[in-house]
Amino acid sequence: MTFKSALKKGDNQSLIINMNLVCQIVVFASILQIQSIELRRKILRIPLGLDFNKHELEEEKEQIHVICLKDNNLIGVLLLAKQANGKLKMRQVAVESKNQGIGVGHQMVMFAEKWALNNKFRTMVLNARKTAVPFYLSMDYLIEGTEFEEVGIPHFKMIKELI
Ligand SMILES: CC(C)(COP(=O)(O)OP(=O)(O)OC[C@H]1O[C@@H](n2cnc3c(N)ncnc32)[C@H](O)[C@@H]1OP(=O)(O)O)[C@@H](O)C(=O)NCCC(=O)NCCS
Repeated sequence: MTFKSALKKGDNQSLIINMNLVCQIVVFASILQIQSIELRRKILRIPLGLDFNKHELEEEKEQIHVICLKDNNLIGVLLLAKQANGKLKMRQVAVESKNQGIGVGHQMVMFAEKWALNNKFRTMVLNARKTAVPFYLSMDYLIEGTEFEEVGIPHFKMIKELI
């Protein structure tokens, strides 16, 4: 299956986590996907004094956009990007501040891993902010290599072989 057909197949996937929490894939340029950019801007960019540019947002057209809704409010987002080496890269993981620490990130990552396996990806990679490394370690991601800088803050490469 090509990545594009996987995208189409994934468009209707959603997983109801409990009565209030739903993870789902949203279509690029849909209302929810545009809302998810605002959440990313608020959680990931503004605190660093940064913003997205038009070009980097357009490049996300081919990526998988996962969101999490609580009581129909968008509270979480993550993106999945196919790498040239056949691995899947998880990026832009963000949870609304007041909903952090209650398992939303964990549920979104589990949803993303399930999507990856269903679409024949066996390895998930990511660049984790140093502050988020304990979160990924708690989900069995391993650190690869040494600290490096991205968006002006320390990061580590992390990897998980999916089974
Ligand atoms: C990092 C982030 C995505 C985690 O999502 P979350 O919903 O807050 O995390 P969860 O509640 O699902 O936590 C899952 C596990 O990770 C642990 N964890 C989460 N953040 C942690 C942290 N900063 N330090 C230590 N442990 C942490 C939790 O204790 C929990 O472990 P447990 O299941 O053993 O109790 C979220 O806090 C966030 O958006 N942070 C700001 C943006 C950011 O740093 N994004 C990541 C970019 S790489």
